[in-house]
Amino acid sequence: MKSDKIDKDRLPTHIAFIMDGNGRWATKRLLPRKFGHREGVKTMRKIITACVRLGIKVVSLFAFSTENRNRPKDEVAALMQLIRENIYDMLKELIDEGVKVVFMGDLSYFDADIRASLDKVVSESADGEKAVVNIGLNYGSRDEIIRAVNKCVQEGKEVNEEIFASHLYTSGLPDPDLIVRTSGEYRLSNFMLYQAAYSEVIVTNTLWPDFNESELQSILAEYEKRDRRFGKV
Ligand code: IPE
Ligand code: IPE
Ligand code: MG
Repeated sequence: MKSDKIDKDRLPTHIAFIMDGNGRWATKRLLPRKFGHREGVKTMRKIITACVRLGIKVVSLFAFSTENRNRPKDEVAALMQLIRENIYDMLKELIDEGVKVVFMGDLSYFDADIRASLDKVVSESADGEKAVVNIGLNYGSRDEIIRAVNKCVQEGKEVNEEIFASHLYTSGLPDPDLIVRTSGEYRLSNFMLYQAAYSEVIVTNTLWPDFNESELQSILAEYEKRDRRFGKV
C-alpha cells in the first residue's frame, strides 16, 4: 500500500477499532482459532502504541462482544485465558507512559481474577493524561443503551442527549471520529450504535492479526480527506 502523508492537525481525536478476523487468520494457516486471537493481542499492543505515538487522544478497541459469549465453550475459555494472561502486561508500558485505560462492558461476567487484573489496570492508570485507551469487554451497544435507559428511569427526570450520554459506558469520552473495521465486514456488530452517529467508517480486508502501522497511516490519510458535513452543507 502506498504511504500517504498524515497531517497531524487533522488526526481523529477518537479512533475506534473493530478488531475482526482473528479466527480466519488462524484457519487460513490450518491453526486452531485461538492462535489467531493470540496474534490479535500482539497487533492490539502495536496499534495502540502507534496511535498514542501519533498523538491520537482516545483509542477504543472492541475485544469481546456480548454475542461472543455464545461462541463454543472452548473458544470462550481460550479468550478468557488470553485476557487473564495478557491484559496487564499488554498495557503496562503504555500506563508507564501516562496512558489512562478504561473498560466498557458488563465486567461482572468475568471471573474474579480477571476482574482484579482489570481493576489493577484501571487504578494504576487513572491519572494518565497522555491518551485514553478504552477497551470493550463483554460490550454490546444494545446492552449499554438499555442500561442507560434504566439509569435514566431511576433518576425519574426528563432526559436529553447530554444526560443520556452520561449514562453510557463512554461517558466523558468524545464520540469516535473514525471507526476502522478489519476483515472486510461492512457492519457494526453492536458496536457504539449511539456514539457512531457521525463517525467516519473505514473497512479494510486485512485480517486483524495482519493489520499494521503502515496500513494505519494509510487509513488515517484517507480519513483526513473525508468531508465531514454533520448534516450541514
Ligand atoms: C475477532 O476475530 C475477535 C473476536 C471477536 C473475539 P474473530 O474471532 O471474530 O475472527 P473471525 O471473524 O471469525 O475471523
Ligand atoms: C465483532 O466481531 C466483535 C469484536 C470484534 C469483538 P464479530 O466477529 O463478533 O462480529 P460478526 O459476528 O462478524 O458480526
Ligand atoms: Mg469475526
